Amino acid sequence: MDTKILAREEEIRRGAEEAGQGHLFAWWPELDLAQRANLLEQIDSIDFPLLQTLIEGLVLHPFPEDAAALEPAPIIPVPRTDIEKREHRIARERGEALLRDGKVAPLVVAGGQGTRLGFQGPKGAFPVGPLTNKCLFAFFAERILAARRRYGPAFPWIIMTSPANDAATRDFFAENDFFGLGPDGVHFFVQGTMPAVDKQGKILLASRHKIARSPDGHGGTLRALDRSRLLDLLASRGIEEISYFQVDNVLAKVLDPVFIGYHASAGAEMSSKVVRKTYPQEKVGIIGLRNGRLGVIEYSDLDEKDMEARGPDGGLKYWAGNIAMHMIHVAFVRRLHEAGIRLPFHRADKKVPFLDNEGRHIEPEHPNAIKFESFIFDALGYANNPVTLEVRREEEFSPLKNATGANSPETARRDLMELFASWLHDAGVKVPRDKEGSLAVKLEISPLYALDREEAMRKIPPGLSIAGDLLLQ
Ligand code: UTP
Repeated sequence: MDTKILAREEEIRRGAEEAGQGHLFAWWPELDLAQRANLLEQIDSIDFPLLQTLIEGLVLHPFPEDAAALEPAPIIPVPRTDIEKREHRIARERGEALLRDGKVAPLVVAGGQGTRLGFQGPKGAFPVGPLTNKCLFAFFAERILAARRRYGPAFPWIIMTSPANDAATRDFFAENDFFGLGPDGVHFFVQGTMPAVDKQGKILLASRHKIARSPDGHGGTLRALDRSRLLDLLASRGIEEISYFQVDNVLAKVLDPVFIGYHASAGAEMSSKVVRKTYPQEKVGIIGLRNGRLGVIEYSDLDEKDMEARGPDGGLKYWAGNIAMHMIHVAFVRRLHEAGIRLPFHRADKKVPFLDNEGRHIEPEHPNAIKFESFIFDALGYANNPVTLEVRREEEFSPLKNATGANSPETARRDLMELFASWLHDAGVKVPRDKEGSLAVKLEISPLYALDREEAMRKIPPGLSIAGDLLLQ
């Protein structure tokens, strides 16, 4: 530990006190030199003017935003007509050409804390394979390997971690031989963090010499990409597009030629996939236009009138649920940095363990703290020519959020198996079901056997009969 910073104690202490955070020094007399230096470094790294603005505007005196009227966004629908099918084919060909030319890299955000799932370890290490218990990272790696086989280039996999899970994630990849991608096929980068504050805007201490910090949201991707020099790496490899997905979407198509093709043909700086909301109160953000700019309106910010509003066809007017799959033009990320554009922070009320005034470690049962997070979709408002593409939920979206119930390991495995069942069905195979219509056997198809429905239909023997659990790999 470099203790040179101790010479700046007075200056750093003054800065904290002026920002109303002098309590961070409450345990100073009890700390040894190394702990003092460590604490000073943490305090010195805080952007107090930014934090004060956030505390003022999001914690102490938040006032409801005067939201501009909402309009539905233009959306490319799931193809039904011949013209739409033809356009999809053209987009696919364009996307495949870009994949063959190695212009795209997959990027997964895996820096979240996964508190709702309550799993010890990085969320990507969670086992979801219905028969193999293969983890999320392994599924994605196999999808990338299958794309390598199909299109040729290596498709470097960019993985965002946070300080809390970076080492564990890297170790997990090393222990698993990088899931066949090789150490050079995977690039990690670490997102930033923000101090967590209590409801009075005071920064929480995790211990006597440690500030409670949490990852700065998936919007931190853009800042961290630049800081980590990964943009330079992408540029040096001739990569122009990032295919962004979340680690907890078990169905994520990590490199989708149709999506890539539509995005590139439009000259879009950032594009999104959406699924149809199943009912008005469903807790997903929707993509819409405010003041003519595209954006995501969070479930909690959508007023009741808009939530229930119907379109001319009687369906929901705002049906386009955001599934956090984006194409991002690399030059767009640079443009935002060069223009000094920072994504705004939002308030998230969460449970954060802390040290109370008596020095006791408290594990709160209810949200006690406010975290500051930025969201990747706020970049949409700055993007030129953004494309929004509708996809089928059962093919592309099944997030793993909770330990039980909706969006849990059970639903993730079920949705994976239902997707495989539909591929088998289309290949002419009878899939056994019970009286309620649920699958009567377990199914698993490795991405290395078939990456998509078309490949499955080519490979699965039509006469295949399923007597028990079926694993194709
Ligand atoms: P969620 O917002 O669902 O959060 O993240 P989470 O951390 O997985 O789970 P909870 O809320 O603590 O239960 C959606 C995606 O964004 C990533 C997550 O890893 C996940 O892939 N994420 C979220 C980050 O990479 N960094 C963040 O700061 C937040």
